Formats: sequence, structure tokens, C-alpha cells
Amino acid sequence: MPENTMQYGEIILDFSYLVAAILFVIGLKLLSKPESAKRGNLYAAAGMVLAMITTLILHKDAEGNNIALTNVIVIVAVITVGTVIGAVVARRIKMTAMPQLVSFYNATGGAASALVALMEYSNPDNTSILVTLLGLVIGSIAFSGSMIAYGKLDGWVKDWLSPLMKYINLFMLALVTVIVVYLMVAVNPMVSKEVLIYILFIMALVYGVFFVMPIGGADMPVIISLLNSFTGIAAAMAGFIYSNQAMILGGIFVGAAGTILTILMCRAMNRSLLNVIVGAFGGGGAVKGDKEIGIIKEISLSDASVLLNYTQKVVIVPGYGLAAAQAQHICSELDKLLTDRGVEVKYAIHPVAGRMPGHMNVLLAEADVPYEKLVEMDDINPDMPNTDVVVVIGANDVVNPAALDDASSPIYGMPIINAHESKNIIVMKRGMGKGYAAIENYLFYNDKTRMLFGNAKDSLQKLVAEIKNL
Ligand code: TAP
Repeated sequence: MPENTMQYGEIILDFSYLVAAILFVIGLKLLSKPESAKRGNLYAAAGMVLAMITTLILHKDAEGNNIALTNVIVIVAVITVGTVIGAVVARRIKMTAMPQLVSFYNATGGAASALVALMEYSNPDNTSILVTLLGLVIGSIAFSGSMIAYGKLDGWVKDWLSPLMKYINLFMLALVTVIVVYLMVAVNPMVSKEVLIYILFIMALVYGVFFVMPIGGADMPVIISLLNSFTGIAAAMAGFIYSNQAMILGGIFVGAAGTILTILMCRAMNRSLLNVIVGAFGGGGAVKGDKEIGIIKEISLSDASVLLNYTQKVVIVPGYGLAAAQAQHICSELDKLLTDRGVEVKYAIHPVAGRMPGHMNVLLAEADVPYEKLVEMDDINPDMPNTDVVVVIGANDVVNPAALDDASSPIYGMPIINAHESKNIIVMKRGMGKGYAAIENYLFYNDKTRMLFGNAKDSLQKLVAEIKNL
């Protein structure tokens, strides 16, 4: 092939990677707002498709040869099968099973990067040995860890809590590190490097399983986000092996986004990542006896409907219970009914309400609640003293004032929605069940609080019926 044509090919390929990177950045930016998130997804996907097509057509190996036609056919066939399966699964999946799906996709990304590293380790052209080994380890952990996370979220893998786990995990991590160092430095290893690399692969897979097994159910979102960043980092490592800029950049974006999300979630719970990983949350904490805190007062459906109907400002605080009861549609109906009658209705969104990042946003969007009604915690809190009625639906820890004033509480320091500052508080839940942190909630004993016990969906249905009769 003439040299000029080769150079043009390389320039076009590099340029296409630059365009792909710009599309990833725009995509990420658009993903930060619900209104533009769909478009953001399309931009990022377009960047990925562009990078794949130009690589298939223009990539050349060290000798200047294009990818062999048979390989191109196999690659295109596999991509087609993957795309069809992905599209069918994404269309069929229920909103409630979204965290599982994210975990499963994460696992496949980790597996792909690990396999690239495993195959390329013995390639004599490969000079990035440390990067290859790290890609193998991180990708394998992301794969097996995400599969366990998938199983846990889907309910067929149970938590495996044992104080021993911490030590087993530390030992395994040390062993993996020793094998990586040995593979890097040993000139004449006792066991052949080809065998050692498979031992490392298996060890990393087992470590991934052990790493996720002891994590408590409600901490899974943090771990999924962490594993997501692992997948990104492993993909970037695979990109280094092939000196492919688009792969490096894509991987780094995913890695960085996952890491930032993990940090944000930990911050919203006022916990360190280490604390999440060794699982010191929940069940503990000094709890005062009921008598010391106050008494529980209930509200009847008719009183609740009158209070809501003849008021000006209502703030709904959704939580995990709203999702568990699948009460988002009837909640949206209540909102529309009150709005039609001149009541201002908003939603206070805590960053970790529910069981996955953005859980409440996704849930309420599914029920057609307009985005502008969803107000972030920091923006709605200053308005709480001017709010006539706060309706807490299936939320617990995220409105617990113990986080503000009880230094002995395990959630002390966690930012909360200041529901206790509003003029009236209605709490809808089934009984006196605790939240994820398994601690007493002082809000329920507040003088201004009245409880409306029952399944959130049933209570809301009855409330809507009552208000319609007013
Ligand atoms: P929780 O504190 O878990 O409380 C949910 C409440 O909903 C429970 O007290 C339960 O009380 C009630 N409930 C359950 N099913 C219900 C139903 N069918 N109808 C009515 N009520 C029902 O929820 P939250 O306030 O959303 O807090 C989330 C927790 O998860 C926080 O501790 C947070 O730190 C943790 N977390 C979240 C994330 C993310 S990313 N979302 C990540 C890590 C940890 P009853 O049993 O009495 O009904």
C-alpha cells in the first residue's frame, strides 16, 4: 500500500478517536440531568460505534496489515448477536430489576478486559506487562464481584457474614499482589509464567466473590458503583495493551465516573468506603427507650385528606418503602389531584434514598412526575420551615434527625431531609419497622408527626379516594 494512503488512514483513525472522545464527554455531561440523559446515552453510544467502525476498517498491526477479513466477519457477527441480546433484555427488563442488569453488564465488561489481558500476556509484542497483569486482576474482580452482586440483588445469593472474611480477604489480596510482583521480577520462575498467569486469574476471580459476599444488602449500590469503576479501569488497561486511545479514554471515563459516584454515595451516608466494605453499618448504636423519646400519634385517613386538601405547600419525601410498595403511580396521582386543587406539591430527593443511585428519580419519572418537581436535598432543606405538610412515604433513615443531634447514632453526621422542621409531618409506613440502619427514628415521636400506618400503595389509594370525595 502506498505510504501516503497508510498515513491518511492513521490520521483518520486518530481523528475518529478524538471525535469519539468528544462524544463521550458530551454524553457524560448530558447524563447529569434527567431531561437530557436519553440524548447523552445516544451521544456516547454514537462515539462508541464510530470508534468500532473506524478501528475495524483502518486499524493496522506493527507490520502495517489490516485486520484479516475473517476476523472482521467474526467480530461483526459477535457484535450483532450482543447488540440483539442487549436490546431485547433492555426492553424487557422491569424498572425494579435495573440494578441487577447494571451489575450483569458490569460483569461482562470486566470479563472482556480480563480475557484480553489473559490472551495478550504471552504475546511477544506486548511490552506493557504490569498494565496487563493489573488489567487481568481488576477485570477478574469486577467480573466475579459483579456476578455475585447480580445474584444478591436478584435474591438467589445470600449475604455471607463472618468476622473471618476480613482476614481471608486481606490474605487473598496479599497473595494476588505477591503473584503479580513475582511475575514482574522473576527471570527463571519455579512454575512457568503461563501456569502462574492462570493461577492469578483464578485467585482474582475467587477474591472478587469473597470481596462482595459479606456486603450488606443496602450497601450494594455503593459496591456496584465501585465495581463499575473497576470495569472502567480494567478496560483502560486493555486499551493500553493495544495502544488504543478510544479504549483508554472510554475506560478512564467509566472508571472516573464510577469512582466519583462511589465517593458521593459514601459522603451522602457520611461513611468511608472502608466502612462500607467491612460493613460496620446497621443494627448498632445507642437507642433510647420509646418512653424517653416520646409517644407515637396516628392520623386517620379523613384527617390526613383534609390536612392535605386545605393546605398550600406540600413536600413528599419518597424512600425505599415507596419503591417496595410500587406506589409511585398512585403517589403521582395524589400529586396531580392536589396540584389541580391549587396545592403546591414538590418532592424532596435524598441522594441515597432507596437502594440504588437515582432510585427515586427513576421511580418517579416512570410515573410521569415532572422533573422540575424533584428537588435535591440541599435545595429543599432551607424551604422546610415554610412547608405546611411533609408526607414521608416509606422513607426512614433519610429523615432521621438523630443524624443531626445524636452523636452516639451510627448515622450521626449523615445529611438528611429536614422533614422535622416543617409545620406538619405525616409518615406513611406499614408499622414501626426500622430502616436500613436498623435504628429508632426520632421523627416518628416528634410532636408535629402523625403516622398513617399501612402499605404505602393501599394508604395512598385510600387517601386519593378520600380527597376526591371532599
Ligand atoms: P429505609 O431507611 O430503608 O426505610 C424504608 C422504610 O420503608 C422502612 O422503615 C419500612 O418501614 C418502610 N416500608 C417498607 N416497605 C414498605 C411498604 N410496602 N409500604 C410502606 N412502607 C414500607 O429507606 P430510605 O429512607 O430510603 O433510606 C435508604 C437507606 O439505604 C439509607 O440508610 C441509606 O444510607 C441506605 N443506602 C442507600 C444507597 C442508595 S444509592 N440508595 C446506598 C447505600 C445505602 P415498615 O417496615 O414499618 O413499613
